[in-house]
Amino acid sequence: MKIDGKPYRTIWLAADGRTVEVIDQTRLPHALEIRPLSTLDDAVAAIRDMIVRGAPLIGATAGYGMALAMAADASDAMLGRAYDHLMATRPTAVNLRWALDDLRHLLLPLPTAQRATAAYTRADEICAADVAICAAIGRHGLPLLEAAKSRKNPGQRINILTHCNAGWLATVDWGTAMAPIYMAHDRGLDLHVWVDETRPRNQGASLTAWELGKHGVAHTVIADNTGGHLMQHGMVDLCIVGTDRTSRRGDVGNKIGTYLKALAARDNGVPFYAAVPSPSIDWTLDDGVRDIPIEQRDGAEVARVTGRLATGAIASVEIVPAGTAVANYAFDVTPARLVTGLITERGVCEASAAGLLSLFPEHAWAA
Ligand code: MRU
Repeated sequence: MKIDGKPYRTIWLAADGRTVEVIDQTRLPHALEIRPLSTLDDAVAAIRDMIVRGAPLIGATAGYGMALAMAADASDAMLGRAYDHLMATRPTAVNLRWALDDLRHLLLPLPTAQRATAAYTRADEICAADVAICAAIGRHGLPLLEAAKSRKNPGQRINILTHCNAGWLATVDWGTAMAPIYMAHDRGLDLHVWVDETRPRNQGASLTAWELGKHGVAHTVIADNTGGHLMQHGMVDLCIVGTDRTSRRGDVGNKIGTYLKALAARDNGVPFYAAVPSPSIDWTLDDGVRDIPIEQRDGAEVARVTGRLATGAIASVEIVPAGTAVANYAFDVTPARLVTGLITERGVCEASAAGLLSLFPEHAWAA
Protein backbone atom coordinates (compact mmCIF):
# COMPACT_ATOMS: atom_id res chain seq x y z
CA MET A 1 0.00 0.00 0.00
CA LYS A 2 1.07 3.59 -0.41
CA ILE A 3 2.16 6.09 2.22
CA ASP A 4 1.98 9.61 0.81
CA GLY A 5 2.19 8.19 -2.70
CA LYS A 6 5.16 5.88 -2.04
CA PRO A 7 4.57 2.10 -2.08
CA TYR A 8 5.51 0.28 1.12
CA ARG A 9 5.32 -3.16 2.61
CA THR A 10 5.63 -3.79 6.32
CA ILE A 11 8.75 -5.94 6.00
CA TRP A 12 11.47 -6.26 3.35
CA LEU A 13 15.14 -7.08 2.83
CA ALA A 14 17.65 -4.22 2.89
CA ALA A 15 20.03 -3.61 -0.01
CA ASP A 16 22.69 -5.84 1.63
CA GLY A 17 20.36 -8.81 1.08
CA ARG A 18 20.72 -9.88 4.69
CA THR A 19 19.35 -7.22 7.04
CA VAL A 20 15.57 -7.19 7.45
CA GLU A 21 13.75 -3.85 7.63
CA VAL A 22 10.33 -3.23 9.15
CA ILE A 23 8.03 -0.32 9.83
CA ASP A 24 8.23 0.33 13.60
CA GLN A 25 4.56 0.11 14.59
CA THR A 26 5.19 1.31 18.13
CA ARG A 27 5.99 4.74 16.64
CA LEU A 28 2.83 5.09 14.53
CA PRO A 29 0.77 7.18 14.01
CA HIS A 30 3.12 9.92 15.18
CA ALA A 31 6.26 8.94 13.27
CA LEU A 32 7.06 6.69 10.32
CA GLU A 33 10.31 5.00 11.29
CA ILE A 34 12.06 2.07 9.67
CA ARG A 35 13.77 -0.36 12.03
CA PRO A 36 16.59 -2.69 10.87
CA LEU A 37 16.61 -6.26 12.24
CA SER A 38 20.14 -7.68 12.01
CA THR A 39 20.10 -10.62 14.41
CA LEU A 40 17.85 -13.32 15.78
CA ASP A 41 17.54 -11.31 18.99
CA ASP A 42 16.36 -8.28 16.99
CA ALA A 43 13.63 -10.39 15.39
CA VAL A 44 12.58 -11.86 18.74
CA ALA A 45 12.38 -8.39 20.30
CA ALA A 46 10.49 -6.98 17.30
CA ILE A 47 7.71 -9.57 17.72
CA ARG A 48 7.70 -9.56 21.53
CA ASP A 49 7.65 -5.76 21.84
CA MET A 50 5.12 -5.37 19.01
CA ILE A 51 7.36 -3.36 16.71
CA VAL A 52 5.69 -5.75 14.29
CA ARG A 53 2.35 -7.32 15.14
CA GLY A 54 -0.67 -8.86 13.49
CA ALA A 55 -0.74 -12.61 12.91
CA PRO A 56 0.48 -12.77 9.28
CA LEU A 57 3.29 -10.27 9.89
CA ILE A 58 4.36 -12.13 13.02
CA GLY A 59 4.69 -15.27 10.87
CA ALA A 60 6.68 -13.45 8.17
CA THR A 61 9.01 -11.88 10.74
CA ALA A 62 9.58 -15.26 12.36
CA GLY A 63 10.59 -16.62 8.95
CA TYR A 64 13.21 -13.90 8.56
CA GLY A 65 14.24 -14.39 12.18
CA MET A 66 15.18 -17.97 11.32
CA ALA A 67 17.10 -16.68 8.29
CA LEU A 68 19.01 -14.14 10.41
CA ALA A 69 19.90 -16.91 12.85
CA MET A 70 21.12 -19.19 10.06
CA ALA A 71 23.21 -16.39 8.52
CA ALA A 72 25.06 -16.08 11.85
CA ASP A 73 25.37 -19.78 12.70
CA ALA A 74 23.70 -22.55 10.70
CA SER A 75 24.26 -25.29 13.26
CA ASP A 76 21.49 -27.61 14.51
CA ALA A 77 21.90 -26.03 17.95
CA MET A 78 21.20 -22.56 16.57
CA LEU A 79 18.26 -23.84 14.54
CA GLY A 80 16.71 -25.21 17.74
CA ARG A 81 17.50 -22.07 19.71
CA ALA A 82 16.02 -19.77 17.05
CA TYR A 83 12.87 -21.91 16.86
CA ASP A 84 12.40 -21.88 20.64
CA HIS A 85 13.12 -18.18 21.15
CA LEU A 86 10.86 -17.06 18.32
CA MET A 87 8.09 -19.47 19.38
CA ALA A 88 8.12 -18.01 22.92
CA THR A 89 7.37 -14.46 21.76
CA ARG A 90 3.56 -14.44 21.36
CA PRO A 91 1.34 -17.45 21.95
CA THR A 92 -1.97 -16.72 20.23
CA ALA A 93 -1.16 -16.11 16.55
CA VAL A 94 -0.82 -19.57 15.02
CA ASN A 95 0.98 -18.10 12.00
CA LEU A 96 4.06 -18.03 14.23
CA ARG A 97 4.02 -21.79 14.78
CA TRP A 98 3.06 -22.39 11.16
CA ALA A 99 6.04 -20.40 9.84
CA LEU A 100 8.54 -21.82 12.32
CA ASP A 101 7.48 -25.43 11.70
CA ASP A 102 7.72 -24.80 7.97
CA LEU A 103 11.26 -23.38 8.23
CA ARG A 104 12.48 -26.08 10.60
CA HIS A 105 11.10 -28.82 8.35
CA LEU A 106 12.84 -27.25 5.36
CA LEU A 107 16.18 -26.53 7.02
CA LEU A 108 16.89 -29.56 9.21
CA PRO A 109 17.68 -31.99 6.36
CA LEU A 110 19.90 -29.45 4.53
CA PRO A 111 23.69 -29.21 4.84
CA THR A 112 24.57 -26.24 7.05
CA ALA A 113 26.21 -24.41 4.12
CA GLN A 114 22.82 -24.20 2.37
CA ARG A 115 20.63 -23.26 5.30
CA ALA A 116 20.91 -19.46 5.32
CA THR A 117 20.13 -19.08 1.62
CA ALA A 118 17.26 -21.55 1.86
CA ALA A 119 15.84 -19.75 4.90
CA TYR A 120 15.91 -16.33 3.22
CA THR A 121 14.29 -17.78 0.10
CA ARG A 122 11.55 -19.41 2.16
CA ALA A 123 10.94 -16.25 4.18
CA ASP A 124 10.63 -14.33 0.89
CA GLU A 125 8.12 -16.94 -0.28
CA ILE A 126 6.08 -16.63 2.92
CA CYS A 127 5.86 -12.88 2.33
CA ALA A 128 4.88 -13.30 -1.33
CA ALA A 129 2.26 -15.90 -0.37
CA ASP A 130 0.84 -13.60 2.28
CA VAL A 131 0.42 -10.78 -0.24
CA ALA A 132 -1.35 -13.15 -2.66
CA ILE A 133 -3.57 -14.56 0.12
CA CYS A 134 -4.60 -11.11 1.32
CA ALA A 135 -5.34 -9.93 -2.22
CA ALA A 136 -7.52 -13.02 -2.74
CA ILE A 137 -9.35 -12.35 0.54
CA GLY A 138 -10.00 -8.85 -0.78
CA ARG A 139 -11.45 -10.22 -4.01
CA HIS A 140 -13.67 -12.72 -2.18
CA GLY A 141 -14.83 -10.18 0.39
CA LEU A 142 -15.64 -7.49 -2.15
CA PRO A 143 -19.03 -9.00 -3.21
CA LEU A 144 -20.15 -8.91 0.45
CA LEU A 145 -19.64 -5.16 0.47
CA GLU A 146 -21.29 -4.77 -2.93
CA ALA A 147 -24.28 -6.78 -1.66
CA ALA A 148 -24.49 -4.58 1.45
CA LYS A 149 -24.46 -1.54 -0.81
CA SER A 150 -27.27 -2.97 -2.94
CA ARG A 151 -29.43 -3.21 0.20
CA LYS A 152 -29.04 0.52 0.92
CA ASN A 153 -31.11 3.32 -0.52
CA PRO A 154 -29.52 5.08 -3.49
CA GLY A 155 -26.93 7.60 -2.32
CA GLN A 156 -26.49 5.95 1.09
CA ARG A 157 -23.01 4.73 1.94
CA ILE A 158 -22.30 1.47 3.73
CA ASN A 159 -20.87 1.42 7.24
CA ILE A 160 -18.44 -1.30 8.23
CA LEU A 161 -17.24 -1.84 11.78
CA THR A 162 -13.80 -3.31 12.45
CA HIS A 163 -11.84 -4.09 15.57
CA CYS A 164 -8.08 -3.81 16.18
CA ASN A 165 -5.88 -3.61 13.08
CA ALA A 166 -6.32 -6.27 10.44
CA GLY A 167 -5.11 -3.94 7.73
CA TRP A 168 -1.93 -3.93 5.71
CA LEU A 169 0.16 -3.13 8.78
CA ALA A 170 -0.86 -6.48 10.26
CA THR A 171 0.24 -8.38 7.16
CA VAL A 172 2.92 -7.93 4.51
CA ASP A 173 0.53 -5.93 2.32
CA TRP A 174 -3.23 -5.36 1.77
CA GLY A 175 -4.39 -6.70 5.14
CA THR A 176 -7.10 -9.28 5.71
CA ALA A 177 -10.26 -7.58 7.03
CA MET A 178 -9.21 -4.35 5.31
CA ALA A 179 -8.44 -5.88 1.90
CA PRO A 180 -12.09 -6.00 0.73
CA ILE A 181 -12.54 -2.46 2.06
CA TYR A 182 -9.54 -1.13 0.11
CA MET A 183 -10.67 -2.91 -3.05
CA ALA A 184 -14.24 -1.62 -2.70
CA HIS A 185 -12.98 1.90 -2.03
CA ASP A 186 -10.67 1.74 -5.05
CA ARG A 187 -13.66 0.76 -7.20
CA GLY A 188 -15.60 3.78 -6.05
CA LEU A 189 -17.98 2.08 -3.60
CA ASP A 190 -19.12 4.70 -1.12
CA LEU A 191 -18.19 3.33 2.30
CA HIS A 192 -17.26 4.41 5.80
CA VAL A 193 -15.45 2.45 8.49
CA TRP A 194 -16.17 2.57 12.23
CA VAL A 195 -12.79 1.92 13.86
CA ASP A 196 -12.84 0.53 17.42
CA GLU A 197 -10.01 2.23 19.29
CA THR A 198 -9.00 -1.20 20.70
CA ARG A 199 -7.72 -0.64 24.20
CA PRO A 200 -5.32 -1.26 25.75
CA ARG A 201 -2.80 -0.78 22.91
CA ASN A 202 -5.11 1.20 20.63
CA GLN A 203 -4.26 -0.56 17.39
CA GLY A 204 -7.52 0.76 15.92
CA ALA A 205 -6.97 4.39 16.89
CA SER A 206 -3.25 4.37 16.09
CA LEU A 207 -2.84 1.98 13.17
CA THR A 208 -6.16 1.32 11.42
CA ALA A 209 -7.09 5.00 11.46
CA TRP A 210 -3.62 5.88 10.16
CA GLU A 211 -3.67 3.46 7.26
CA LEU A 212 -7.27 4.25 6.28
CA GLY A 213 -6.40 7.94 6.37
CA LYS A 214 -3.33 7.42 4.18
CA HIS A 215 -5.49 5.56 1.66
CA GLY A 216 -8.27 8.15 1.74
CA VAL A 217 -10.98 5.85 3.17
CA ALA A 218 -13.66 7.62 5.23
CA HIS A 219 -13.53 6.46 8.83
CA THR A 220 -14.40 7.40 12.41
CA VAL A 221 -12.66 6.18 15.55
CA ILE A 222 -15.03 5.13 18.32
CA ALA A 223 -14.50 4.09 21.93
CA ASP A 224 -14.58 0.33 22.23
CA ASN A 225 -17.98 0.28 23.92
CA THR A 226 -19.76 2.19 21.15
CA GLY A 227 -20.42 -0.59 18.62
CA GLY A 228 -23.53 -2.00 20.32
CA HIS A 229 -25.23 1.38 20.31
CA LEU A 230 -24.41 1.96 16.64
CA MET A 231 -25.76 -1.46 15.72
CA GLN A 232 -29.02 -0.86 17.62
CA HIS A 233 -29.57 2.26 15.52
CA GLY A 234 -28.89 0.75 12.10
CA MET A 235 -25.55 2.50 11.76
CA VAL A 236 -23.50 -0.64 11.00
CA ASP A 237 -24.19 -2.69 7.86
CA LEU A 238 -21.60 -5.36 8.57
CA CYS A 239 -18.60 -6.13 10.75
CA ILE A 240 -15.33 -7.53 9.42
CA VAL A 241 -12.53 -8.54 11.78
CA GLY A 242 -9.26 -10.43 11.44
CA THR A 243 -8.07 -13.48 13.32
CA ASP A 244 -4.96 -14.69 15.09
CA ARG A 245 -6.11 -18.28 15.22
CA THR A 246 -9.29 -19.88 13.97
CA SER A 247 -10.10 -23.43 15.00
CA ARG A 248 -11.11 -26.09 12.49
CA ARG A 249 -14.76 -25.69 13.51
CA GLY A 250 -14.59 -21.94 12.90
CA ASP A 251 -14.17 -20.41 16.36
CA VAL A 252 -12.38 -17.11 15.77
CA GLY A 253 -9.58 -16.00 18.10
CA ASN A 254 -8.90 -12.29 17.70
CA LYS A 255 -8.10 -9.15 19.64
CA ILE A 256 -9.82 -8.82 23.01
CA GLY A 257 -13.28 -7.30 22.56
CA THR A 258 -14.07 -9.03 19.27
CA TYR A 259 -16.47 -11.43 21.02
CA LEU A 260 -18.53 -8.58 22.48
CA LYS A 261 -18.92 -7.07 19.01
CA ALA A 262 -20.10 -10.42 17.66
CA LEU A 263 -22.69 -10.67 20.45
CA ALA A 264 -23.98 -7.19 19.68
CA ALA A 265 -24.02 -8.00 15.97
CA ARG A 266 -26.07 -11.16 16.53
CA ASP A 267 -28.56 -9.32 18.75
CA ASN A 268 -29.07 -6.71 16.06
CA GLY A 269 -29.04 -8.88 12.94
CA VAL A 270 -25.78 -7.37 11.68
CA PRO A 271 -23.64 -9.77 9.57
CA PHE A 272 -20.34 -10.53 11.31
CA TYR A 273 -17.48 -11.80 9.13
CA ALA A 274 -13.92 -12.84 9.94
CA ALA A 275 -11.20 -12.60 7.31
CA VAL A 276 -9.21 -15.81 7.70
CA PRO A 277 -6.01 -16.51 5.75
CA SER A 278 -5.36 -20.26 5.76
CA PRO A 279 -2.09 -19.94 7.76
CA SER A 280 -4.27 -18.58 10.60
CA ILE A 281 -6.34 -21.78 10.75
CA ASP A 282 -5.28 -24.22 13.46
CA TRP A 283 -6.43 -27.55 12.08
CA THR A 284 -5.29 -29.29 15.28
CA LEU A 285 -7.85 -27.47 17.46
CA ASP A 286 -11.60 -27.98 17.42
CA ASP A 287 -12.97 -26.09 20.42
CA GLY A 288 -11.31 -22.73 20.03
CA VAL A 289 -13.04 -21.17 23.04
CA ARG A 290 -11.47 -23.77 25.28
CA ASP A 291 -8.18 -24.43 23.54
CA ILE A 292 -6.87 -21.32 21.75
CA PRO A 293 -4.10 -20.01 24.04
CA ILE A 294 -4.81 -16.46 25.16
CA GLU A 295 -1.81 -14.18 25.56
CA GLN A 296 -1.72 -12.18 28.78
CA ARG A 297 0.44 -9.10 28.55
CA ASP A 298 1.97 -6.64 30.99
CA GLY A 299 -0.67 -4.90 33.10
CA ALA A 300 1.12 -1.62 32.44
CA GLU A 301 -0.57 -1.57 29.03
CA VAL A 302 -3.93 -1.26 30.83
CA ALA A 303 -2.73 1.02 33.63
CA ARG A 304 -1.11 3.55 31.28
CA VAL A 305 -2.01 5.42 28.11
CA THR A 306 0.60 6.69 25.69
CA GLY A 307 0.07 9.57 23.29
CA ARG A 308 1.39 12.80 21.85
CA LEU A 309 1.30 16.00 23.90
CA ALA A 310 0.52 19.41 22.40
CA THR A 311 4.27 20.03 22.48
CA GLY A 312 4.77 17.10 20.10
CA ALA A 313 6.50 15.00 22.74
CA ILE A 314 5.32 11.41 23.27
CA ALA A 315 4.26 10.79 26.88
CA SER A 316 2.86 7.91 28.86
CA VAL A 317 0.51 8.60 31.77
CA GLU A 318 -1.02 6.51 34.58
CA ILE A 319 -4.81 6.17 34.47
CA VAL A 320 -5.49 3.92 37.47
CA PRO A 321 -4.79 4.52 41.16
CA ALA A 322 -1.25 3.48 42.14
CA GLY A 323 -1.11 -0.15 43.18
CA THR A 324 -4.42 -1.16 41.57
CA ALA A 325 -4.54 -4.72 40.27
CA VAL A 326 -4.94 -4.88 36.47
CA ALA A 327 -5.42 -7.78 34.08
CA ASN A 328 -4.47 -7.71 30.42
CA TYR A 329 -5.99 -10.51 28.35
CA ALA A 330 -4.91 -9.70 24.81
CA PHE A 331 -7.33 -11.91 22.84
CA ASP A 332 -10.72 -13.58 23.07
CA VAL A 333 -12.51 -16.21 21.03
CA THR A 334 -15.78 -15.70 19.20
CA PRO A 335 -17.69 -18.99 18.89
CA ALA A 336 -18.45 -20.08 15.33
CA ARG A 337 -22.22 -19.80 15.96
CA LEU A 338 -21.86 -15.99 16.14
CA VAL A 339 -19.87 -15.73 12.91
CA THR A 340 -21.84 -15.20 9.70
CA GLY A 341 -19.00 -16.37 7.48
CA LEU A 342 -15.26 -16.75 7.04
CA ILE A 343 -13.59 -14.90 4.18
CA THR A 344 -10.62 -16.98 3.07
CA GLU A 345 -8.30 -16.83 0.08
CA ARG A 346 -10.34 -19.64 -1.50
CA GLY A 347 -13.74 -18.07 -0.98
CA VAL A 348 -16.33 -17.36 1.71
CA CYS A 349 -17.61 -20.26 3.79
CA GLU A 350 -19.77 -21.02 6.78
CA ALA A 351 -17.94 -20.89 10.11
CA SER A 352 -17.92 -24.63 10.68
CA ALA A 353 -15.69 -27.64 10.07
CA ALA A 354 -17.81 -28.54 7.04
CA GLY A 355 -17.52 -25.00 5.71
CA LEU A 356 -13.75 -24.83 6.09
CA LEU A 357 -13.23 -28.35 4.72
CA SER A 358 -15.34 -27.51 1.66
CA LEU A 359 -12.63 -24.99 0.77
CA PHE A 360 -9.60 -26.83 2.21
CA PRO A 361 -10.36 -30.53 1.62
CA GLU A 362 -6.67 -31.41 1.99
CA HIS A 363 -7.14 -30.94 5.75
CA ALA A 364 -9.81 -33.65 6.02
CA TRP A 365 -7.17 -35.66 7.96
CA ALA A 366 -7.92 -33.40 10.91
CA ALA A 367 -11.57 -34.59 11.09
O1 MRU B 1 -1.91 -7.86 19.35
P1 MRU B 1 -1.93 -7.66 17.87
O2 MRU B 1 -1.88 -6.23 17.45
O3 MRU B 1 -0.86 -8.49 17.18
O4 MRU B 1 -3.34 -8.23 17.42
C1 MRU B 1 -3.70 -8.22 16.07
C2 MRU B 1 -5.07 -8.71 15.82
O5 MRU B 1 -5.79 -9.08 16.70
C3 MRU B 1 -5.50 -8.82 14.38
O6 MRU B 1 -6.88 -8.66 14.26
C4 MRU B 1 -5.11 -10.21 13.85
O7 MRU B 1 -3.75 -10.46 14.05
C5 MRU B 1 -5.43 -10.36 12.43
S1 MRU B 1 -4.30 -9.46 11.44
C6 MRU B 1 -4.61 -9.67 9.83
